[in-house]
Amino acid sequence: MSNAVLSVQDVSVAFGFDKNGNPRDGKQPLQVTDRVSFDIFSGEFFALVGESGCGKSVTAMSILRLLPWPSAKIVNGSILFNARDLVKLPLNELQSVRGSEIACIFQEPMQALNPVVTIKKQLLEVFKFGAVSNSAVSNSASSADPLTIIREQLRLAGFTDPDRVLNSYPHELSGGMLQRVCIVMALLPKPKLIIADEPTTALDVTVQAQVLAVLKDMAEKTGTAVLLITHNMGIVSQYAHRVAVMYAGRIVEEGPVREVINHPLHPYTQGLLAAIPESHSDLRTLASIPGSVPHPKDFAKGCRFADRCSKCAQAPAEIREKCLSAELPTKMSEADHFAYCFCQDPRASRG
Ligand SMILES: Nc1ncnc2c1ncn2[C@@H]1O[C@H](COP(=O)(O)OP(=O)(O)O)[C@@H](O)[C@H]1O
Ligand code: SF4
Ligand SMILES: [Mg+2]
Repeated sequence: MSNAVLSVQDVSVAFGFDKNGNPRDGKQPLQVTDRVSFDIFSGEFFALVGESGCGKSVTAMSILRLLPWPSAKIVNGSILFNARDLVKLPLNELQSVRGSEIACIFQEPMQALNPVVTIKKQLLEVFKFGAVSNSAVSNSASSADPLTIIREQLRLAGFTDPDRVLNSYPHELSGGMLQRVCIVMALLPKPKLIIADEPTTALDVTVQAQVLAVLKDMAEKTGTAVLLITHNMGIVSQYAHRVAVMYAGRIVEEGPVREVINHPLHPYTQGLLAAIPESHSDLRTLASIPGSVPHPKDFAKGCRFADRCSKCAQAPAEIREKCLSAELPTKMSEADHFAYCFCQDPRASRG
């Protein structure tokens, strides 16, 4: 789509290559994601959700070509960003996109921080690379010196005493504080997109909400789009505008979050939603999806969810036959909310 910040189109990633880009040891590479497509628009909070092993991180890493080299390769598709295809962009041009135009926040904040350097030095470092533009900060601070800008951003991230944080080493701060520092660091160059891969999974439940609220609030203020990777449908429902649901390397459903939550089309999405614990729910009755995500070497020929799908088990024989053997389930489309499933009439789920 034309006004998308990022347009991922039919991207497939495979593992098993040597440094010349050929299949390693003559063996067929293992394809782990299959024609993944989605668009992210300016200022949008877009979630990619699915159980562990579905291909979310591989998809995220493919955007900035951070996949393990040489074993992984993008074998199909394009990733359009700012009128350029990141899949084909020369490495020196891609380096200038990394960090300044597209920033990343990882599960472990310590991955992004140097343990022996103060937070102040590390945040000032971002300015040294010339990545921070004056428009990254509010008008009142646009002519201010770097430290004033950093203090203002730390306050926006919820730190009432920015100097205490600035004079600390990473090990002196809690995980939640470090992740908020990483959010500030990622946003300083005013990137168009932030990729946040499970940014709160390593944190205590009590601080997860605070960190996500800071990310959402600060991204909204700067107009930065966010690709949030998570396995948690509860987080999706609270923070995202749109969501793509991923299963076994494929997108199986996508739509505006309210639509997907209120009228899930795909049996996998329905299963994920049924498994969200609510404060009043009895954990003994909480539904879980039987079975587990298959390893890519065990991907089935038909719908990859078939062996876990209760709809398939109850479907008429001719549908079941398709589920088990047809190439890709058909796209059930209702404007911007769609899913891939043989079994369901989209109108039927809107009772
Ligand atoms: N370095 C790697 N080598 C081989 N296979 C990998 C590697 N990294 C990920 N995979 C495989 O790719 C699939 C998707 O993994 P990943 O994207 O990390 O899942 P998620 O982030 O959804 O938990 C998994 O089956 C995983 O085993
Ligand atoms: S295509 Fe068939 S197996 Fe796959 S989710 Fe739909 S009903 Fe279930
Ligand atoms: Mg992951």
